[in-house]
Amino acid sequence: MQNVVDLDRAYVWHPFTQEQTAPAPIEIVAAKGSRLIGANGKEFLDLISSWWVTIHGHAHPRIAQAIAEQARTLEQVIFAGFTHAPAARLATELVRRLPAGLERVFFSDDGSTSVEVAMKMALQFWRNQGETRRRFLAFEGGYHGDTVGAMSAGRSSGFFDAFEAMLFSVDPLPYPATWEGDDQVEEKEGAALSALDAYLERHGQETAALIAEPLVQGASGMRMCRPSFLRALRSRLQQADVLLIFDEVMTGFGRTGELFACQKAKVTPDIICLSKGLTAGFLPLAVTVCRKEIYQVFLGETFDRAFTHGHSFTANPLGCAAALASLQVFDEENTLAKLSLIEAVHRDALARLALNPKVGRLRLTGTIAAMDVMAEQEGYTSAVGSKLKDYFHTQGLLLRPLGNVLYLLPPYCISEPELRRAYEVIEHAVTAVI
Ligand SMILES: Cc1ncc(COP(=O)(O)O)c(C=O)c1O
Repeated sequence: MQNVVDLDRAYVWHPFTQEQTAPAPIEIVAAKGSRLIGANGKEFLDLISSWWVTIHGHAHPRIAQAIAEQARTLEQVIFAGFTHAPAARLATELVRRLPAGLERVFFSDDGSTSVEVAMKMALQFWRNQGETRRRFLAFEGGYHGDTVGAMSAGRSSGFFDAFEAMLFSVDPLPYPATWEGDDQVEEKEGAALSALDAYLERHGQETAALIAEPLVQGASGMRMCRPSFLRALRSRLQQADVLLIFDEVMTGFGRTGELFACQKAKVTPDIICLSKGLTAGFLPLAVTVCRKEIYQVFLGETFDRAFTHGHSFTANPLGCAAALASLQVFDEENTLAKLSLIEAVHRDALARLALNPKVGRLRLTGTIAAMDVMAEQEGYTSAVGSKLKDYFHTQGLLLRPLGNVLYLLPPYCISEPELRRAYEVIEHAVTAVI
């Protein structure tokens, strides 16, 4: 058989990659726990949970077994007019663990589709009540996925200039990004809330929903905000009768230290989007969960009130079985308690890095730690990112800076020595490599 990388180079097109200049992809043949194993035997410590999806660790036997058993029993069935135990049980378990009020679970395939569902649900919620509300609000720098609605909401992330012609208008709000020792946070939050107040005063009645990544904006550079800001946001939207959508595709399932960021922030949205960690990173699956009152507006005698959205693989039984097993692992392994250990190691390392003039804006929320590397060019295309990434690869670390933003988002099974070693390499890299 021909070499895998040669075949890849001949026939495959990779995501978010400039194929002409990117180095050849690294072939991975196996994975276990926090480690990926390359074709030549080289190991990589996965410090980004393979694009933020792996939570308990790679190839967790409990989840692998649940998928295998499900595959032998029922691998797939149309989800219109039919149901199955993994889907019904998963919906029940999710509702049990989400904040009270979020009660109806709509399944889809990935983070982007869960966002499309949320936006369409919000639009039709108003339409079914005879109101035309076409406006959406989103935060500057927000990223919600690569389908048209999600791109429209995430336009200001800067990734979608090539698709401008197909995007619809979503109104941007300033985002009060903050970090350790930020003495301007109050000012930034005040400005964001004043902008929201002015907007709601003018357009509240035409606005279907605001969509936000709670506590941490992922793709635009792990930009964090304070929980109290989200509470202020919630009360304003409630007063103005505008729906709040939380995109917890990245923050869900323990990332911020609690099962969901909305719990950490003590804010219950009207609609929540979950994916990535939902199946512990084993299979693509997503859910959009809404309040009972939203679901009820779609009921009626005629089909035009129904939610006409669905995918071939809606509520795929294998994905649901993986998700159920993952929730069991949370209970059996007391996973939430492990998260504070990861946070403590991050905190300790960031305190040391704070003394290093090569980095700034250190920030931490639960298992996510991030910092800006001081570079001439900032942003996603900053050359410092790919230089650091290449160096980390040579050191056996899978880290993928977002431009000049260096972040760690490890699987929860990572050991303290593994994480400490990663920080040693990072400290060396930011001082000696760039
Ligand atoms: C907050 C957020 N929303 C949505 C998405 C899109 O998810 P997917 O890539 O699974 O479509 C992502 C992906 O990184 C994300 O971080």
